[in-house]
Amino acid sequence: MIAIDVGYSHTKAISPDRRVLIPSVVAPHRELSLAELSRNGYGHIAEIHKLSGGTKKCFIGELALREGQGATFTLDREKYKHPNHHILILAAARLLEARQGATLVVGLPVAYYRLQKEELRRELEALHAEVSIDGGPYTRVSFGKVVVYPQGAGALLTVSDIPDNKLVCLVDVGYKTTDYVLARMVDNLVRPESGGSVEYGIFQMHEAVNSVFESTTGTPLDVGLTNAVVEQGKITFRGKELDLTAAVEEARVNTARAIADRVLAALGQKGDFMAKFYLAGGGVKALPKLMEMFPAAEVLPNPQWANAKGFLRVGTGTAKGA
Ligand SMILES: Nc1ncnc2c1ncn2[C@@H]1O[C@H](COP(=O)(O)OP(=O)(O)OP(=O)(O)O)[C@@H](O)[C@H]1O
Ligand SMILES: [Mg+2]
Repeated sequence: MIAIDVGYSHTKAISPDRRVLIPSVVAPHRELSLAELSRNGYGHIAEIHKLSGGTKKCFIGELALREGQGATFTLDREKYKHPNHHILILAAARLLEARQGATLVVGLPVAYYRLQKEELRRELEALHAEVSIDGGPYTRVSFGKVVVYPQGAGALLTVSDIPDNKLVCLVDVGYKTTDYVLARMVDNLVRPESGGSVEYGIFQMHEAVNSVFESTTGTPLDVGLTNAVVEQGKITFRGKELDLTAAVEEARVNTARAIADRVLAALGQKGDFMAKFYLAGGGVKALPKLMEMFPAAEVLPNPQWANAKGFLRVGTGTAKGA
């Protein structure tokens, strides 16, 4: 039994006794790559031999990020249709040491859920591969049963004290998308009622920081470096320390405001009648001001993991869900 939440920025994979967090980046393997020679235990090399034919060797996660070229995970709208999606699923399942034929629970953005869930389920149930990680033995990875669950609704299943029979809203702030789900607790079961996605997230905050960096230095900033600037506020550039703390702070506030505005606008008047707003997704950690922008807001513990943890409950049948 495993659950995998493939995000645009990170893949969160969990089994009852293990967790794996991998940046969602895949790059073709290159012999004698510098990133590989100095990897210090970061990232992975995956060799995937599909039973339908073909073997692929690639860098995954931190290694792919450091390898640079062509490594960034696509910002395609339908990420689960991108080949990287299945590569990340296979690598994460292998890292969790999932047994062959295990049950897999994955999520789909609410906006695509109804239309795409069957197709995704069929595809993942048909996926069979031999996978080796970091030069280890090849192990067969396949899923006996795949459950596709609406993203966001997964996170709600980790909340133990949802007020009875009142409408609540879960907001999952991700890298590229923010999902929201309206739900009601009826007879001790979470009943999702409606929801949607807004295409806005931490990516926009990174863009804002990048554009300040570019206008200050005349040079664009590499993807991998944006994280460092956002985390530290400062970076050495051509021998001088560049302090972007104020720009980062401004980007945080503006992005939080834009996300809250878009979600509240999508909810319309319904937004005024929520008993609670539960905030999840790694983005909540980067945007603490979101707490003040939603009424009766509560950040879920370990917000980046909330969906994956909820998915696991769906799989083990301990979910108070519909
Ligand atoms: N503790 C933290 N502090 C600051 N930022 C964080 C923290 N944890 C995660 N983030 C950032 O939050 C963002 C969203 O993380 P998350 O894993 O929820 O996104 P995702 O699921 O990959 O994206 P999407 O839902 O759009 O597909 C990432 O850019 C990540 O770097
Ligand atoms: Mg996400």
